Amino acid sequence: MIVAIDGPAGAGKSTVARKLAERLGFRYLDTGAMYRALTWLAIREALPLAEGEPLGELARKNPVTFDEAGRVFIGGCDVTSAIRQSRIDRMVPVVARHHDVREVMRERQRELAAQGNAVIEGRDIGTVVAPGAEVKVYLQADPAIRASRRQAEWPDIGADALATDLRSRDESDSVRMQPAEDAELIDTTDLEVEDVVTRIEELIRARSLATS
Ligand code: DC
Repeated sequence: MIVAIDGPAGAGKSTVARKLAERLGFRYLDTGAMYRALTWLAIREALPLAEGEPLGELARKNPVTFDEAGRVFIGGCDVTSAIRQSRIDRMVPVVARHHDVREVMRERQRELAAQGNAVIEGRDIGTVVAPGAEVKVYLQADPAIRASRRQAEWPDIGADALATDLRSRDESDSVRMQPAEDAELIDTTDLEVEDVVTRIEELIRARSLATS
């Protein structure tokens, strides 16, 4: 079974998806980490981020891998922490926008999805990467709450800078951020992580009953 979890930055996808995968005993795939890892490598290689073709080539030659503990690797480097830096936050939408990059990433994400039960989080999982996913969820939350969640992760960055950053990421991600028609929308503004996870578990149960 594939559980697709999409939604904008700060909606709670990672925390929810990780916890859900743990409870279900499913693999967890963070597709945002793949775009982040490629961005990290492109900056290290000093590639122009405005050009899609060399970035697609770089992605093809350097598949992103994950270990059992969820660490992220590209080009032989463990980039788990490096890809969470704010400079990556700022540059990743520029890289993720390119068609050549998305093609390589989606191919790889489908390969990983084909390996069996998984919770996959991203922006285009329910619509493009795994349109046949048995359960699709789209998480959303009030922009102020999303900014404050980011602030908790990055206490050293000013609130205004974070809010501006989030807004510009939303704008550049928005074309890829439409919920799938058959996705269940969950507003996490006033919900605890546990409540969201339980709600998705109920959807999975209902889906399993419907198909058994
Ligand atoms: O979820 P995140 O913040 O780690 O995602 C990082 C960036 O990658 C974000 O700008 C959106 C992009 N992304 C995407 O375009 N498609 C995905 N499936 C996942 C992430």
